[in-house]
Amino acid sequence: MCGIVGYNGKNSVTDQLLDSLELLEYRGYDSAGLATLNGTTGKVKLRKCAGRVRDLRRICQSDKKISTCGIGHTRWATHGGVSDLNAHPHRNGDVILVHNGIIENYEELKDHFMLHKELKSQTDTEVVAAVLNRLYKGDPHEALRKAVQYLRGTFALVVLFADQPDTIYAIRNVSPIVAAYNDNGTMLASDVAALGATAEKYMVVPEYVITELHKNEIKLFDLEGKPVEPEFITIDWDTTRDGKGNYPFYMEKEIMEQPDALKATMEQRIVDGKIDLSSDGVPDEILKSCERVCVVACGTAMHAGLVAKALVQSKLGMHMAVEYASEFMYEDPVIDEKTLVLAISQSGETIDTLEALKYARAKGAKSIAVINVKGSSIARESDYVMYTVAGPEIAVASTKAYTTQLIALFLLVGRMAKVRGIFDDAAEKEFLGHLVSAPEKMQQVLDQKHDIHKIARGMLDAKDAFMIGRGLDYSILLEGALKLKEISYIHTEAYASGELKHGTIALITENTPVVATVTQSRLKDKELSNIREVQSRGASVILLVKEDFDLADAEYADVFMLPAMADEFMVFPASAALQLLAYYVSMDKGLDVDKPRNLAKVVTVE
Ligand code: G6P
Repeated sequence: MCGIVGYNGKNSVTDQLLDSLELLEYRGYDSAGLATLNGTTGKVKLRKCAGRVRDLRRICQSDKKISTCGIGHTRWATHGGVSDLNAHPHRNGDVILVHNGIIENYEELKDHFMLHKELKSQTDTEVVAAVLNRLYKGDPHEALRKAVQYLRGTFALVVLFADQPDTIYAIRNVSPIVAAYNDNGTMLASDVAALGATAEKYMVVPEYVITELHKNEIKLFDLEGKPVEPEFITIDWDTTRDGKGNYPFYMEKEIMEQPDALKATMEQRIVDGKIDLSSDGVPDEILKSCERVCVVACGTAMHAGLVAKALVQSKLGMHMAVEYASEFMYEDPVIDEKTLVLAISQSGETIDTLEALKYARAKGAKSIAVINVKGSSIARESDYVMYTVAGPEIAVASTKAYTTQLIALFLLVGRMAKVRGIFDDAAEKEFLGHLVSAPEKMQQVLDQKHDIHKIARGMLDAKDAFMIGRGLDYSILLEGALKLKEISYIHTEAYASGELKHGTIALITENTPVVATVTQSRLKDKELSNIREVQSRGASVILLVKEDFDLADAEYADVFMLPAMADEFMVFPASAALQLLAYYVSMDKGLDVDKPRNLAKVVTVE
């Protein structure tokens, strides 16, 4: 979703902004733009267009590029279609701004300030520029302070005032802004990825604090004008984009990185052969005393929660709810101080997950966030954080973030079992024995990627596909189906195979591809007979099956043997196979695997 950058320093700002906007491309966007402010002449130059950052770069090609202060934006359309005019920055009088978020009362503001005649775009953002310009009488702080009192919704606003050379102003509510500096100048952005190599340390700009970016310092002020001391966080993972290596797409690189990412996520949490969450600061007491567990998450992260649910219910005998974060608070969830809420998110910025977490905490729940991006909003909002060690995930389709989330969740459940007296030392050892073999079992699947590529070729012409399984297989397939549909545009539904007969089987026709996973001993026979039912209707079945299961003499369009693990852990090899299947279908269809249409990596609007 919308990405913001600002730079003020020694270098040509246009080049700096274009490079940073490229680093934000992974968030998903449809237009790009930038504005520069020349400190000597006071001239503002605004360039924007629908399309890619490379299109913006082309537009800027013949510019002199002498300014050293400016702001940039990648837009993911919400209010107003995808057009040059709706792209950011927006200018009204002396005010030039970019925005991430949604201003809910922008129609009211148009009426209140009588802006209708002067607005050129359909965006809520231009309304903010106009409001700010009305309130601007030469004092940026006063204008910002007054403007935010009118705004309802979420916003990260980054502003240039044409008569205030060499200063960038910013203020935010909910939508994140991070800032950093080095010898070349100061920078701000929507996420650390855009800070690139410039940042060894960064700060998360606090809400409702006016940020000033000067050439060599960042100043923060509260709304009363008092200075606020910035708190810097050290980046301990590599934010430089080392590219795709020898892979054509980030997604393949990230799939292949999984065994290492899994090991890194486990490493610090297994001490002397026992699960130890002390480095996360998670106290045993909350794992022991909670009576209910509830996951709030979106997309792939929610699917990781579903896998954890099976484990919590089977190992701990506890009820666990897994909720779409976007629906959570509208369902009047039963939450109290005995509830442990797990907020799972790769980016740590998904606004629905953040809002659901805040809601649960306000009801007294304790919370643990499972997050990949350090210092992100959800991490800061939660009582405790378990960071996954996946490293930067660039492809929109999440892969290594998902499987590292699973590792963190398995460790958490294992520790809960221990402190609740369900695991003795031997049971913990056995559990960990399975878990530590997950990277190797995944690697075995990754080593056979060419076999999965061959299977994928049979799906290229499909318009619809189904994925069927029961129990944990069904949870695994919900994620498998999401992967396939988001990057191949094949309409794919995961179905609990027992439920298929209640309607969906009507859609199975001759040669419809059906992917079935069979990894759970107690469900195998029922799953195999559900497979027969779809085969009898002409479906072409691709079977992903645990290698030691006997398949009798049935025939399938394709069979891929998954390395055997204990049933609860089969999610690891099965997920690798499903990720590769989706990847190869998308690649062979000639699609932009890393940036599927309409999707965003970081969803910052409700
Ligand atoms: C978007 C991404 C998905 C991701 C979901 C939740 O839809 O495209 O890949 O699973 O958001 O994101 P989070 O950062 O909270 O895990």
